[in-house]
Amino acid sequence: MTDWIASRRGPLHGSIAIPGDKSVSHRAVMLAAIADGVSRIEGFLEGADTRATATIFQQLGVRIETPEEGVRVVHGVGVDGLRPTQSPLDCGNAGTAMRLLSGLLAGQAFDSTLVGDASLSKRPMRRVIEPLRRMGARIDAADGDLPPLRMHPARALRGIEYTSDVASAQVKSAILLAGLYAEGETIVREQPTRDYTERMLSAFGYPVDHAPGSARLGGGHRLRAINVVVPADISSAAFFIVAACIVPGSELRLRQVGLNPRRTGLLHVLREMGADIVETQCCEQGGEPVADLLVRHASLRGIDVPLEHVADMIDEFPALFIAAACADGTTRVRGAAELRVKESDRIAGMAQGLRTLGIRVDERPDGATIHGGGLRGGIIDSHGDHRVAMAFAVAAQRAHDDVRITDIANVATSFPGFEAAATAVGMTLRTE
Ligand code: S3P
Repeated sequence: MTDWIASRRGPLHGSIAIPGDKSVSHRAVMLAAIADGVSRIEGFLEGADTRATATIFQQLGVRIETPEEGVRVVHGVGVDGLRPTQSPLDCGNAGTAMRLLSGLLAGQAFDSTLVGDASLSKRPMRRVIEPLRRMGARIDAADGDLPPLRMHPARALRGIEYTSDVASAQVKSAILLAGLYAEGETIVREQPTRDYTERMLSAFGYPVDHAPGSARLGGGHRLRAINVVVPADISSAAFFIVAACIVPGSELRLRQVGLNPRRTGLLHVLREMGADIVETQCCEQGGEPVADLLVRHASLRGIDVPLEHVADMIDEFPALFIAAACADGTTRVRGAAELRVKESDRIAGMAQGLRTLGIRVDERPDGATIHGGGLRGGIIDSHGDHRVAMAFAVAAQRAHDDVRITDIANVATSFPGFEAAATAVGMTLRTE
């Protein structure tokens, strides 16, 4: 098992290019694979999760070339062009791959099996199985509706009107992707979540009506190949944003970060806590708003995180917990029970780690209250969760002693160059 030793040095300075967005990279490969024609994807995240998605489509008969790092050329096979494979389709650690593919594969005329690693094999799949079965899909799962998922050809899928009781872009996307193969209309209503599936389907020429909280499409249309430019992932930028906020004297520029409004909850919350974050060079990249973020150290104060921001920062809570630990006063997180079923139980893991570093944390089923204070060193179990590992590497920059973070290999799922980027701006972090 690989560990990090992280320790405090001094102010962080410099400019960082953050890798491509994970959600956009997954969807770009999926839609390009079933489009007519050749699509080029630039800024593709070279992470284990998104590479797993590309490998799965190669298994399903799609030619995908890598002319250079961060670029994929996908030779689309059309909506009905995927081919069966005997081998299981390995999603690795990637919940997005498994849930979106369950929707896409539900409409195919062949059997397939989706498997994942130990963490993914414990994550709930009922949320996609139940609506997909309502559409006519034939899916078998392990006890408790857990992976592996065995997909069998359905006689015909039919569109449904579905109101999702979890705020989940993965659930919405699975239903919409099955809807491409369904008779009639598929309508999903939800508490608004990231809308990349809807936006990208439109960009590929597929007719979709969508607004925050609802999406509607009819089955049976085709997709046309396009070029996709993937913006930098704000969920990866989050660790450096918080690092610059909490380390005195720091000033970091994060270049051309994707600022889709469904992803910027952390920026709203940190600004409410007193953070100094300036957006410059604002423009549009591949239909998404992007900007440079200039982040300077500031004294943070604890707040009650407004419920309206929770879904728009769902992957940023590990980073936020560290900001809260370094803030004056208490920060309360509620309405975030979904954190318990991410790559690990992030409420339990963050609370346990922060307590090890001397911070008082009161856990609750749907969040936590974090009492800001001084951080000491210690040994932190990341529970194999990439974002928990990166969050504690940031926390260490304020800790009085070394922090050892165990089981960090999964950082490569979303941010393979994290250690190099961190050390380049002045963090002390080494692998052991
Ligand atoms: C994602 C949606 C979110 C997020 C995940 C990526 C996506 O999951 O946590 O990292 O790409 O659709 P949920 O849909 O489970 O909230």
